[in-house]
Amino acid sequence: MAAVAVARIVPVVSLASVEQAEPLADALIAGGITAVEITLRTPSGVGAIARLADYSALLTVGAGTVVSVAQVDEVIDAGARFVISPGIDEAVVTRCLARGVLPVPGIGTASEVQLADRLGLSAVKVFPAAELGGAGFVRAMRGPFPHMRFLPSGGVTADNVAAYLATPGVFAVSGSWTAPDAAIAAGDWERVAQLAAAATAAIAA
Ligand code: 3PG
Repeated sequence: MAAVAVARIVPVVSLASVEQAEPLADALIAGGITAVEITLRTPSGVGAIARLADYSALLTVGAGTVVSVAQVDEVIDAGARFVISPGIDEAVVTRCLARGVLPVPGIGTASEVQLADRLGLSAVKVFPAAELGGAGFVRAMRGPFPHMRFLPSGGVTADNVAAYLATPGVFAVSGSWTAPDAAIAAGDWERVAQLAAAATAAIAA
């Protein structure tokens, strides 16, 4: 969890082609970002993770939308250093742990936090955070699970990122606002760098 906790902001990106991986990484790094989640929502996801192996000193690359054990193996073989899922699946979590890579499964109920706890995890994604009640939901979950750390995702924006990060128990946030699909599709890496810089400046302030 250390690298993600240090990063504080984890852009969630879905790439249409593997060639987008390097310019995306350059733009995020220029904006002060140190971790990124590349999703498997496109067929380019695994290839993009593999292409960023040389960036590992500057950017911690993880995989997102990982929903099967086979995908866990694929992304870890490609170099993913953390594995994020929209929900919690015991087989996915167990495989990540067996391979020594941090799983961050999504939770939306106390039962799911309880399952994460039983599986020995100390960090979960809260998804979809805004729809679940935002920071108030995290505060409520922290009551029975004071040792759990939370990664809100879904509806995190430039306007609310600082408030999420100031919420006790939140170790980082993730979201697409720093690298929107439209900017990626247009190859507007300057825009991505600007949004990333604004996000990192907001949390430094
Ligand atoms: C995720 O995968 O974590 C979310 O889809 C990101 O949600 P956002 O697009 O609202 O930031």
